[in-house]
Amino acid sequence: MTHQLPVGHHRPRRLRTSPRVRRLVSETRVHASDLVLPLFVKEGLDAPRPISSMPGVVQHTEATLADAVRDAARAGVGGVMLFGIPAERDATGTQADAEDGILQRGIRVAVEAAREHTNGGPVVMADTCLDEFTDHGHCGVLAEGRDGGVVVDNDATLDRYASMAVAQARAGADVVAPSGMMDGQVAVIREALDAAGFDDVGILAYSAKYASAFYGPFREAVDSALQGDRRTYQMDAGNAREGLREANLDLAEGADMVMVKPAGSYLDVLAAVAEMSAVPVAAYQVSGEYAMIEAAAANGWIDRRAAVTESVLGIKRAGADVILTYWATELAGWLDENDGRTRA
Ligand code: PBG
Repeated sequence: MTHQLPVGHHRPRRLRTSPRVRRLVSETRVHASDLVLPLFVKEGLDAPRPISSMPGVVQHTEATLADAVRDAARAGVGGVMLFGIPAERDATGTQADAEDGILQRGIRVAVEAAREHTNGGPVVMADTCLDEFTDHGHCGVLAEGRDGGVVVDNDATLDRYASMAVAQARAGADVVAPSGMMDGQVAVIREALDAAGFDDVGILAYSAKYASAFYGPFREAVDSALQGDRRTYQMDAGNAREGLREANLDLAEGADMVMVKPAGSYLDVLAAVAEMSAVPVAAYQVSGEYAMIEAAAANGWIDRRAAVTESVLGIKRAGADVILTYWATELAGWLDENDGRTRA
């Protein structure tokens, strides 16, 4: 028997009947300017080196870093986030704040390439963390713990972050991004930047950063030396309220933007932070999220472009104003700048 809907009954499908109607009523649009491209620059390379667990992503030379920034600028990408991989590592990460350290060199290269573009190109941001620069791979300096083991020394690490942020600002970074999850890092960096005359350099705080298996491929990307884990400073995956608390602390310390990381498995935390934050909220679609879609697509198990688009759209829908994604430049090329939707 055929049912007849009553007259006047709601028919939501009416607004799905054609691409033009769907376009008109779409609630969420991703724009190239929302996107931030993370980039790796490695000291001493003479050619870019592929990262096997992140197909399509490479460790850049300074020259190819400039090219990647130019490509991002042409695509209208909103920002780049730089990570440096030094040739020499030591216990305190000396190269992290060295004036000629690889990250500072990368920042100068990126700023110069970005400014070639008529609109000034993407915002140049830098990761403010020690893990790429220490020989033990932790995000801070180590001290002896009460049980004789090693711990990451919070306050000794803050001094290093302050110095690193100033070095990055001096090299020309628009925004510094402390990602080490040390208590008080935003306040200390703000104070140091202001004291050095960089009061217009912003802080994007990695506020709710979880200890995540999805950072796996990143460890290859930065040749990480880490043994063990980061569970004494990064957050436990089950804790949402604590993520809000971390974001609130960073806001009180003067963060200009706050971030939730990873994105895909923490959309509830992202939505909660977006709900309460008075500053823009970023989310980082991390290396493992990238690798999963690339691997499934390479096997023919998933439609790559559709999956990439949907994954980023979901992060935007959850409340992110800014999205860090390794697909930033490619995705920007798929978007129609007029309506923020992927072109068919
Ligand atoms: C720390 C840092 C990490 C990532 C960004 N900043 C690694 C970690 O915390 O272990 C991960 C990013 C990704 O997986 O894409 N400097």
